Amino acid sequence: MSLKEQIDLTRLPKHIAVIMDGNGRWAKQKGMNRIFGHTNGVNAVRETAEACAELGVEYLTMYAFSAENWNRPQLEVSALMTLLLKTINGELKTLLKNDIRLGAIGDIDSLPKGVAKELREAIEKTSHCKRMELILALSYGAKNEMVRAVKQIALKVQSGETSLHDINENLITENLYTAGRPDPELLIRTSGEKRVSNFLLWQLAYAEFYFTDVFWPEFNKEELYKAVIEFQNRERRFGKTSEQLATGK
Ligand code: FPP
Repeated sequence: MSLKEQIDLTRLPKHIAVIMDGNGRWAKQKGMNRIFGHTNGVNAVRETAEACAELGVEYLTMYAFSAENWNRPQLEVSALMTLLLKTINGELKTLLKNDIRLGAIGDIDSLPKGVAKELREAIEKTSHCKRMELILALSYGAKNEMVRAVKQIALKVQSGETSLHDINENLITENLYTAGRPDPELLIRTSGEKRVSNFLLWQLAYAEFYFTDVFWPEFNKEELYKAVIEFQNRERRFGKTSEQLATGK
Protein backbone atom coordinates (compact mmCIF):
# COMPACT_ATOMS: atom_id res chain seq x y z
CA MET A 1 0.00 0.00 0.00
CA SER A 2 1.41 3.44 -0.91
CA LEU A 3 1.93 6.03 1.83
CA LYS A 4 -0.96 8.09 0.47
CA GLU A 5 -3.30 5.10 0.65
CA GLN A 6 -2.43 4.61 4.32
CA ILE A 7 -3.99 7.98 5.19
CA ASP A 8 -7.48 7.97 6.69
CA LEU A 9 -9.11 10.90 4.88
CA THR A 10 -11.83 11.14 7.55
CA ARG A 11 -9.26 11.95 10.26
CA LEU A 12 -7.08 14.55 8.57
CA PRO A 13 -5.64 17.45 10.54
CA LYS A 14 -7.69 20.50 9.52
CA HIS A 15 -4.68 22.75 9.94
CA ILE A 16 -0.99 21.87 9.50
CA ALA A 17 1.81 24.27 10.47
CA VAL A 18 5.35 23.90 9.14
CA ILE A 19 8.71 25.22 10.32
CA MET A 20 10.75 24.97 7.13
CA ASP A 21 14.31 24.48 8.31
CA GLY A 22 17.61 23.35 6.82
CA ASN A 23 17.84 25.29 3.55
CA GLY A 24 21.29 26.60 4.45
CA ARG A 25 22.70 23.25 5.57
CA TRP A 26 21.28 21.48 2.51
CA ALA A 27 22.99 24.00 0.23
CA LYS A 28 26.28 23.78 2.15
CA GLN A 29 26.27 19.98 1.75
CA LYS A 30 26.12 20.57 -1.98
CA GLY A 31 28.90 23.16 -1.88
CA MET A 32 26.45 25.93 -2.77
CA ASN A 33 25.48 29.17 -1.04
CA ARG A 34 22.49 29.57 1.31
CA ILE A 35 20.40 31.41 -1.29
CA PHE A 36 20.55 28.28 -3.48
CA GLY A 37 18.98 26.42 -0.54
CA HIS A 38 16.14 28.93 -0.23
CA THR A 39 15.50 28.87 -3.97
CA ASN A 40 15.14 25.10 -3.85
CA GLY A 41 13.01 25.45 -0.72
CA VAL A 42 10.31 27.01 -2.87
CA ASN A 43 9.81 23.66 -4.68
CA ALA A 44 9.15 22.03 -1.31
CA VAL A 45 6.61 24.76 -0.47
CA ARG A 46 4.83 23.99 -3.75
CA GLU A 47 4.89 20.20 -3.19
CA THR A 48 3.62 20.53 0.37
CA ALA A 49 0.81 22.90 -0.57
CA GLU A 50 -0.22 20.62 -3.42
CA ALA A 51 -0.18 17.50 -1.23
CA CYS A 52 -2.24 19.21 1.49
CA ALA A 53 -4.82 20.55 -0.97
CA GLU A 54 -5.13 17.15 -2.69
CA LEU A 55 -5.70 15.39 0.64
CA GLY A 56 -8.27 17.93 1.83
CA VAL A 57 -6.33 19.79 4.54
CA GLU A 58 -8.09 23.14 4.99
CA TYR A 59 -5.29 25.35 6.37
CA LEU A 60 -1.53 25.21 5.86
CA THR A 61 0.67 27.72 7.67
CA MET A 62 4.32 27.99 6.66
CA TYR A 63 7.01 29.82 8.64
CA ALA A 64 8.68 31.63 5.75
CA PHE A 65 10.39 34.50 7.60
CA SER A 66 10.56 35.03 11.34
CA ALA A 67 10.77 38.40 13.12
CA GLU A 68 14.28 37.27 14.15
CA ASN A 69 15.30 36.55 10.54
CA TRP A 70 15.80 40.30 9.97
CA ASN A 71 19.10 39.79 11.83
CA ARG A 72 20.52 37.58 9.07
CA PRO A 73 23.14 39.05 6.69
CA GLN A 74 21.62 41.83 4.58
CA LEU A 75 22.34 39.95 1.37
CA GLU A 76 20.39 36.90 2.53
CA VAL A 77 17.46 39.00 3.75
CA SER A 78 17.14 40.80 0.42
CA ALA A 79 17.49 37.54 -1.51
CA LEU A 80 14.67 36.04 0.58
CA MET A 81 12.48 39.09 -0.09
CA THR A 82 13.18 38.91 -3.83
CA LEU A 83 12.40 35.19 -3.80
CA LEU A 84 9.16 35.84 -1.94
CA LEU A 85 8.11 38.47 -4.44
CA LYS A 86 8.99 36.22 -7.38
CA THR A 87 7.15 33.27 -5.83
CA ILE A 88 3.98 35.26 -5.12
CA ASN A 89 3.92 36.59 -8.70
CA GLY A 90 4.82 33.24 -10.23
CA GLU A 91 2.35 31.15 -8.23
CA LEU A 92 -0.71 33.40 -8.33
CA LYS A 93 -2.17 31.65 -11.39
CA THR A 94 -1.61 28.22 -9.85
CA LEU A 95 -3.26 29.31 -6.62
CA LEU A 96 -6.32 30.54 -8.51
CA LYS A 97 -6.45 27.44 -10.70
CA ASN A 98 -6.34 25.21 -7.64
CA ASP A 99 -8.85 27.28 -5.67
CA ILE A 100 -6.29 28.07 -2.95
CA ARG A 101 -6.59 31.24 -0.89
CA LEU A 102 -3.42 33.03 0.13
CA GLY A 103 -3.16 34.42 3.65
CA ALA A 104 -0.44 35.99 5.75
CA ILE A 105 0.32 36.40 9.45
CA GLY A 106 2.99 38.62 10.94
CA ASP A 107 4.11 42.22 10.74
CA ILE A 108 3.38 42.65 7.02
CA ASP A 109 3.96 46.42 7.24
CA SER A 110 7.62 45.76 8.05
CA LEU A 111 8.20 44.00 4.70
CA PRO A 112 9.65 46.01 1.79
CA LYS A 113 6.83 48.09 0.27
CA GLY A 114 6.77 46.22 -3.05
CA VAL A 115 6.57 42.82 -1.34
CA ALA A 116 3.80 43.92 1.02
CA LYS A 117 1.84 45.35 -1.93
CA GLU A 118 2.10 42.21 -4.10
CA LEU A 119 1.26 40.05 -1.10
CA ARG A 120 -1.85 42.08 -0.25
CA GLU A 121 -2.96 42.02 -3.89
CA ALA A 122 -2.52 38.24 -4.14
CA ILE A 123 -4.46 37.80 -0.89
CA GLU A 124 -7.25 39.96 -2.30
CA LYS A 125 -7.30 38.22 -5.69
CA THR A 126 -7.53 34.75 -4.11
CA SER A 127 -9.93 35.71 -1.31
CA HIS A 128 -12.84 33.87 -2.96
CA CYS A 129 -10.96 30.55 -3.17
CA LYS A 130 -12.42 27.79 -1.04
CA ARG A 131 -10.33 24.63 -1.17
CA MET A 132 -7.53 25.55 1.23
CA GLU A 133 -5.86 28.59 2.77
CA LEU A 134 -2.08 28.78 2.39
CA ILE A 135 -0.91 31.11 5.15
CA LEU A 136 2.59 32.55 5.00
CA ALA A 137 4.10 33.60 8.33
CA LEU A 138 6.21 36.61 7.43
CA SER A 139 8.11 38.81 9.85
CA TYR A 140 6.24 36.70 12.37
CA GLY A 141 7.02 36.20 16.05
CA ALA A 142 4.59 34.64 18.53
CA LYS A 143 5.62 36.74 21.52
CA ASN A 144 5.25 39.90 19.47
CA GLU A 145 1.83 38.65 18.29
CA MET A 146 0.75 38.28 21.92
CA VAL A 147 2.02 41.75 22.88
CA ARG A 148 0.03 43.15 19.96
CA ALA A 149 -3.10 41.26 21.08
CA VAL A 150 -2.73 42.51 24.68
CA LYS A 151 -2.42 46.09 23.42
CA GLN A 152 -5.49 45.74 21.18
CA ILE A 153 -7.51 44.35 24.08
CA ALA A 154 -6.24 47.05 26.48
CA LEU A 155 -7.38 49.71 24.02
CA LYS A 156 -10.84 48.14 23.83
CA VAL A 157 -11.08 48.08 27.63
CA GLN A 158 -9.89 51.69 27.78
CA SER A 159 -12.52 52.82 25.25
CA GLY A 160 -15.26 50.88 27.04
CA GLU A 161 -15.85 48.60 24.02
CA THR A 162 -15.10 45.64 26.26
CA SER A 163 -14.58 45.11 30.01
CA LEU A 164 -12.04 43.27 32.15
CA HIS A 165 -14.73 40.70 32.87
CA ASP A 166 -14.98 39.83 29.15
CA ILE A 167 -11.31 38.93 28.75
CA ASN A 168 -11.15 35.20 28.12
CA GLU A 169 -9.38 32.70 25.85
CA ASN A 170 -11.70 33.46 22.93
CA LEU A 171 -11.03 37.18 23.08
CA ILE A 172 -7.28 36.57 23.03
CA THR A 173 -7.65 34.12 20.12
CA GLU A 174 -9.68 36.72 18.20
CA ASN A 175 -6.94 39.30 18.62
CA LEU A 176 -4.12 37.16 17.24
CA TYR A 177 -2.98 37.31 13.60
CA THR A 178 -4.57 33.87 13.15
CA ALA A 179 -8.06 35.05 14.14
CA GLY A 180 -10.83 33.10 12.42
CA ARG A 181 -8.74 29.99 11.72
CA PRO A 182 -8.72 26.77 13.74
CA ASP A 183 -5.55 25.98 15.72
CA PRO A 184 -3.01 23.74 13.95
CA GLU A 185 -3.36 20.11 14.97
CA LEU A 186 -0.02 19.08 13.52
CA LEU A 187 3.30 20.95 13.57
CA ILE A 188 6.07 19.73 11.28
CA ARG A 189 9.69 20.84 11.65
CA THR A 190 12.38 19.69 9.27
CA SER A 191 16.19 19.40 9.55
CA GLY A 192 16.40 17.60 12.90
CA GLU A 193 15.98 20.71 15.07
CA LYS A 194 13.48 20.18 17.88
CA ARG A 195 12.44 23.68 18.85
CA VAL A 196 9.33 25.78 18.38
CA SER A 197 11.31 28.99 17.68
CA ASN A 198 8.68 31.56 18.65
CA PHE A 199 6.11 30.07 16.24
CA LEU A 200 2.38 30.05 17.08
CA LEU A 201 3.00 29.62 20.82
CA TRP A 202 -0.66 30.12 21.78
CA GLN A 203 -2.13 28.20 18.84
CA LEU A 204 0.05 25.08 19.22
CA ALA A 205 -1.22 24.33 22.75
CA TYR A 206 -2.65 20.94 21.73
CA ALA A 207 -0.81 20.27 18.48
CA GLU A 208 1.10 17.07 17.79
CA PHE A 209 4.76 17.80 16.98
CA TYR A 210 6.46 15.88 14.17
CA PHE A 211 10.20 16.22 13.63
CA THR A 212 12.11 14.87 10.67
CA ASP A 213 15.82 14.97 9.82
CA VAL A 214 15.04 15.76 6.17
CA PHE A 215 16.28 19.22 5.13
CA TRP A 216 13.51 21.49 3.86
CA PRO A 217 14.48 21.49 0.13
CA GLU A 218 14.13 17.68 0.18
CA PHE A 219 10.71 17.70 1.83
CA ASN A 220 8.03 16.50 -0.60
CA LYS A 221 4.60 14.89 -0.84
CA GLU A 222 5.81 11.52 0.47
CA GLU A 223 7.40 13.23 3.51
CA LEU A 224 4.13 15.08 4.15
CA TYR A 225 2.21 11.78 3.98
CA LYS A 226 4.61 10.27 6.57
CA ALA A 227 3.88 13.15 8.95
CA VAL A 228 0.10 12.76 8.53
CA ILE A 229 0.31 8.99 9.07
CA GLU A 230 2.33 9.52 12.27
CA PHE A 231 -0.26 12.11 13.39
CA GLN A 232 -3.06 9.61 12.82
CA ASN A 233 -1.22 6.95 14.83
CA ARG A 234 -0.97 9.18 17.87
CA GLU A 235 -3.61 9.28 20.56
CA ARG A 236 -4.78 12.83 21.23
CA ARG A 237 -6.15 12.93 24.77
CA PHE A 238 -6.65 16.66 25.44
CA GLY A 239 -5.99 16.07 29.15
CA LYS A 240 -8.35 13.08 29.40
CA THR A 241 -7.38 9.44 30.13
CA SER A 242 -7.22 6.71 27.46
CA GLU A 243 -10.19 5.01 29.17
CA GLN A 244 -12.31 8.16 28.95
CA LEU A 245 -11.52 8.42 25.23
CA ALA A 246 -12.43 4.76 24.63
CA THR A 247 -15.75 4.95 26.50
CA GLY A 248 -16.58 8.53 25.47
CA LYS A 249 -17.30 9.43 29.14
C1 FPP B 1 15.12 27.96 7.06
O1 FPP B 1 16.34 27.42 6.59
C2 FPP B 1 14.36 28.63 6.02
C3 FPP B 1 14.03 29.96 6.01
C4 FPP B 1 14.44 30.91 7.05
C5 FPP B 1 13.26 30.56 4.93
C6 FPP B 1 12.24 29.70 4.28
C7 FPP B 1 12.04 30.22 2.93
C8 FPP B 1 11.78 29.49 1.84
C9 FPP B 1 11.56 28.04 1.85
C10 FPP B 1 11.73 30.13 0.52
C11 FPP B 1 10.74 31.20 0.37
C12 FPP B 1 9.39 30.80 0.79
C13 FPP B 1 8.26 31.22 0.20
C14 FPP B 1 6.95 30.86 0.79
C15 FPP B 1 8.29 32.00 -1.03
P1 FPP B 1 17.66 27.99 7.21
O2 FPP B 1 18.13 29.09 6.35
O3 FPP B 1 17.43 28.37 8.65
O4 FPP B 1 18.60 26.75 7.12
P2 FPP B 1 19.80 26.36 8.12
O5 FPP B 1 19.19 26.19 9.46
O6 FPP B 1 20.30 25.09 7.54
O7 FPP B 1 20.78 27.47 8.06
